Amino acid sequence: MADLKHPREAQLGRLVVVGLGLIGGSFAKGIRATGLFREVVGVDLDAESRRLAVELGVVDRCEAELAAACQGADVIQLAVPILVMEKVLAQLAKLELGQAIITDVGSAKGNLVRAARQAFGHMPSRFVPGHPIAGSEQSGVTAANPKLFRRHKVILTPVAETDPDALALVGHLWRALDADVEHMDVAHHDQVLAATSHLPHLLAYTLVDSLAKRNENLEIFRYAAGGFRDFTRIAGSDPLMWHDIFLANRDAVLQALDDFRDDLDALRAAVVEGDGHHLLGVFTRARVAREHFSKILARRAYVDAMHSNNDLIFLAQPGGSVNGRIRVPGDKSISHRSIMLGSLADGVTEVQGFLEGEDALATIQAFRDMGVVIEGPHKGRVTVHGVGLHGLKAPAGPLYMGNSGTSMRLLSGLLAAQPFDTTLTGDASLSKRPMNRVAKPLREMGAVIETGPEGRPPLTIRGGQKLVGMHYDMPMASAQVKSCLLLAGLYAAGETSVTEPAPTRDHTERMLRGFGYPVEVKGATAKVESGHTLTATQIEVPADISSAAFFMVAASIAEGAELLLEHVGINPTRTGVIDILRLMGGDISLENQREVGGEPVADIRVRSAKLKGIDIPEDLVPLAIDEFPVLFIAAACAEGRTVLRGAEELRVKESDRIQVMADGLQTLGVKAEPTPDGIIIHGGPIGGGEVWAHGDHRIAMSFSVASLRATAPIRIHDCANVATSFPNFLALAEQVGIRVAKES
Ligand code: S3P
Repeated sequence: MADLKHPREAQLGRLVVVGLGLIGGSFAKGIRATGLFREVVGVDLDAESRRLAVELGVVDRCEAELAAACQGADVIQLAVPILVMEKVLAQLAKLELGQAIITDVGSAKGNLVRAARQAFGHMPSRFVPGHPIAGSEQSGVTAANPKLFRRHKVILTPVAETDPDALALVGHLWRALDADVEHMDVAHHDQVLAATSHLPHLLAYTLVDSLAKRNENLEIFRYAAGGFRDFTRIAGSDPLMWHDIFLANRDAVLQALDDFRDDLDALRAAVVEGDGHHLLGVFTRARVAREHFSKILARRAYVDAMHSNNDLIFLAQPGGSVNGRIRVPGDKSISHRSIMLGSLADGVTEVQGFLEGEDALATIQAFRDMGVVIEGPHKGRVTVHGVGLHGLKAPAGPLYMGNSGTSMRLLSGLLAAQPFDTTLTGDASLSKRPMNRVAKPLREMGAVIETGPEGRPPLTIRGGQKLVGMHYDMPMASAQVKSCLLLAGLYAAGETSVTEPAPTRDHTERMLRGFGYPVEVKGATAKVESGHTLTATQIEVPADISSAAFFMVAASIAEGAELLLEHVGINPTRTGVIDILRLMGGDISLENQREVGGEPVADIRVRSAKLKGIDIPEDLVPLAIDEFPVLFIAAACAEGRTVLRGAEELRVKESDRIQVMADGLQTLGVKAEPTPDGIIIHGGPIGGGEVWAHGDHRIAMSFSVASLRATAPIRIHDCANVATSFPNFLALAEQVGIRVAKES
């Protein structure tokens, strides 16, 4: 027997594949091609399959008898139907197999582990249960395809007794066929497969049979459209194989079926009672879930999206221009709040101009998970069926906030006051961001919140706490902290007030009033008291000034530019970018100023200008907090030195925006000196090079804009998160003349 500790280096003796159907044949043929074994021997009851297997090069030779093939083998792969597998295990138990490793390809694992225990009197340590999640419409040895498992998952389900060397070798064999190997607990495997594979097959078979037997001449099928065909495709699978699988995975299938039956009964009751709200809830949730799954499935069949290489690169070429008129997508802050307050309102809120970016979608998903029916978004329209301040339901699992700090911080205030527990999680960037800034004051109000190490996500928020209103002097200027506490204040006994050290965006205060909830604002203090309600309303979300900012800088620095940005929100707590650019000499005018749904809006005209470096007034920092990455590009194009101070908050945004921008600017040949609370940038020529966005949407877009003045291409890594706030950035950039695109 070869040394299994070094499977990669040594050739093994004999592989025996029992069962030469599609899966067994494909495994045998693939492994034979790797040369890992001196010989590959097939076993099959069918003489014709044995003959063909040799003729087609699937195996080196065949045996009709199990004993003849298996004695002296190194690895025995069982690829017979799953109920037959139980019998084969009993036969193997009677043979002298030495150190041979046994593995299998069965679709259920619990029954085989039980069968092995029974046959051998104990769980053999060299039995490695496995399941390749792959298949094909074809069957039989003639369909054997050595590439069948390439980029497909293979789940191995070792048990406590399983020998690690045997497990490693079986994993190595599958990887040699380019499969993605995972380990899973036996029971978990059977539950997952029962829900995602076995139950759908059962439903497809039942639906077709049920319709067919009631319509003997099968006339109804003449009218069946594509939907029926798609839904019932799997009813064309091998009946014998599925008969075996349902019996083998009996317990898990029954559990999945019972859960499904409960949901079906609830749906039936909703139809009987004319409960359209329930129907809409099920259908909208299912549709979103389906879109999410198809993204994962489309990437590659059955393969975890996490394994894919997600370094989206933007290639920005010099020589672009900026002209025309555009409307950038809806305001992110207002979009988040429209869902939160719409969900907590009584009645149906209609939203227009909603930002269909991943951050705002994470907020929608969180409220859907808590039982709110939300239709859309479709072309910026969202309909939120409010459940009232006390109508949220416990979500089934953790709420995933993706990249969105706003979702996590604002929601934590709301959730601290709910009767149920919640856990909030996020992506790698969000998981590094500070949450004590909300957890600490919420605890003072009586909330029970656990954070990860150093106050980072995940947050676990215990329900059923009685919050008490308080006054809070915020140590930092943060609209997220202010909003979080005001939202908690809707539930806390008495009054909750927050004083900010400098003005921050006031969308929460404005929108609460828009929903008829009284908010008192005196100077730097905003105050709410509990006991009022929110009444559904209509919301028109203006275009996001933070997204418009990229184009304001672009038009300012590009030669001969003139751009009109339509319908941009110019809430005075957000217009720091306009003030700063004007101080630098920017040519920006506001046209057609108006008020839409409680928020001021204007069309913004920007022309090229000769920018000069300035000392940025510190009081403008919170009013332009998200726009600094692109303002640094403006500074790099300006004559002289620009100094930013009092902006340490930039170090805890989606990335450390001071360091990441300084690194990128230096790579492009710009003199940029980071300081603890800001940066000093000396204007001058911009070269080309490779820069990293560190998953920060605003860094990626800022360096795209820099290309307008660069002397060579700029390659920007890690740009996928542009979709969090500005999903059509590349299309709009191209429309105005900026030469940036995804690298193919
Ligand atoms: C936001 C507030 C700001 C801002 C963020 C959105 C909001 O964060 O940077 O993009 O919607 O309240 P801070 O409150 O942390 O400054």
